[in-house]
Amino acid sequence: MKKFLLLGIVVGLVFGLVLGCGSTGSAAGAMTPGTYLAEQRGYVDQIKVETVVDGSKIVSVRVVENHETNGIGSFAIQWLPERIVEAQSVGIDIVSGASFSSRAILGSVTDALRQAGADVDKFSRPPPKPRARDQEISVDVIIVGAGGAGLSAGVESMVKGKDTLIIEKMDIPGGNTIRSSGAFNVAGSPEQVAAHRGRYSIEDFITYTMEGGHNLNNRELVTHMIQNSAGVVDWLKAQGMNPKIGETYQSYTVDGEAKGLILDLLHRYETLGGKIMYGVRGTDIATSGGRATGIVGVDKLGGKITIRAKAVILASGGFGGDLEMCARLDPQLEGFVTDNSLGATGDGIKMAEAIGAATVDMEQIQSHPTIHQASSTMLTEGIRGSGGILINTAGKRFTNENTYRDVVSAAILRQDQAKACILYNKELMDNNPNVQGYYEQGLVTPYETLDDVARYMNVDPGVLKQTVATWNTYVANKNDPEFNSSFSWIRDLSQGPYFALWVAPGIHHTMGGVKINVRTEVISTGGSVIPGLFACGEVTGGVHGGNRVGGNAILDILLYGRTAGENAAAYIR
Ligand code: FUM
Repeated sequence: MKKFLLLGIVVGLVFGLVLGCGSTGSAAGAMTPGTYLAEQRGYVDQIKVETVVDGSKIVSVRVVENHETNGIGSFAIQWLPERIVEAQSVGIDIVSGASFSSRAILGSVTDALRQAGADVDKFSRPPPKPRARDQEISVDVIIVGAGGAGLSAGVESMVKGKDTLIIEKMDIPGGNTIRSSGAFNVAGSPEQVAAHRGRYSIEDFITYTMEGGHNLNNRELVTHMIQNSAGVVDWLKAQGMNPKIGETYQSYTVDGEAKGLILDLLHRYETLGGKIMYGVRGTDIATSGGRATGIVGVDKLGGKITIRAKAVILASGGFGGDLEMCARLDPQLEGFVTDNSLGATGDGIKMAEAIGAATVDMEQIQSHPTIHQASSTMLTEGIRGSGGILINTAGKRFTNENTYRDVVSAAILRQDQAKACILYNKELMDNNPNVQGYYEQGLVTPYETLDDVARYMNVDPGVLKQTVATWNTYVANKNDPEFNSSFSWIRDLSQGPYFALWVAPGIHHTMGGVKINVRTEVISTGGSVIPGLFACGEVTGGVHGGNRVGGNAILDILLYGRTAGENAAAYIR
């Protein structure tokens, strides 16, 4: 202990456990100079933070160990330490979109200050806010939203040589894309054709998408997207990415998950010289003579930002984060949780409507069947697509787990307590980075045997074991006579360890939005193109009809995001 003190190093943990030495009773207002270690739980795991103080100041803050999600928590880790030192305060704003990681860092520094004997209140005061400042900016292309659609549009606009600015109201990029599993469907690429030996043709994929959407979809938008889907793989490769074909239905991923896609798009966009302003919310589309000529927005301090542009792209996402709006449009969704980003509040739709844009399918809101209700975490349908099953409170299967998600959601809602337990094994987890993530973030725990699973579920172990044994015979025979599962029979559940978690439907995707054509031009209520205004991704309606099929959102944002960037650039020319 003494040795540590003499060296000026004091090491501690939160919750009062001090490893090196605790507070040494420094004079009020002063601190014991030294290096202090503290940790708190972030989103995935503990975040360890080293704080160095002298007698009166925070000298440095460094995150020395973390397992936070690249592309989400990583931004808090990158930005907050410097901001704390600059402000000499733990009362600074969190990074919106990375709140768990932010709070763990701020909490750890607070603990370090306490160990140093500091007057913590003194270091907790929010720093004075700079005065709000109005700004005027001119660019070729302004894009609203830095999710997958906005970044794809931005990359293509930059590739086409246009000076491009993206505004993003959150502090980090990614939107809803970064919360998805990142898988996207393609038909007709050489890898897909080889992998499926001619099955799942472009025509099959169009039919699957239209039927999945209850034929409410705009067939032209669907056909255009799917006929050009293989080109998305080539486009990503041309941008330096490496999409790989996955285990489930004709899907690709970049680096196995959505974070990889967002970070790669962001890197490419910034390498090309594209600019992003975070914490800026678009409020209005500026027009002149019926053309879109820019965006008016507001920054976090309340400063007005006027952006003049030759073309405007809306890529601000849907409204699945606004529970009240969802329930108003579809009263059956009252009381549902959502897995959406807090930023998904339909801003772009409202801005477009205000200048006369038409909307379609606004009441078509999708619930995803397998959302962990307490944490609002979506468990990817990649689990069911690669061998996971759903079991009810009686210990029995009750549906084809691999049919359209509105059908699976409805089947769960008909079960006792309107919930289901999703069951899979470690082998399945080891083959899917998204599924590994649920374990790493502590959402699921392993169960060695089905008896252990039955205890967790509070069901009769005999019934559960019979359900799983029967399922295993279906896998062996590649046929499910009970529910006609469309699973591709790649693995059974004969081997543990197992993972099991109770889930239920939650709001996932808003299919409705701004009306566009295949060039991503926004259409007015009068049926004409609004010159200079383009839209792509979840802010638009029509592509997915009454129910989006899994893996089509990422295809949509990539294909129509790129299209918006290309056509906005062409419009300027
Ligand atoms: O279940 C999922 O992985 C969701 C995919 C999607 O929304 O496309």
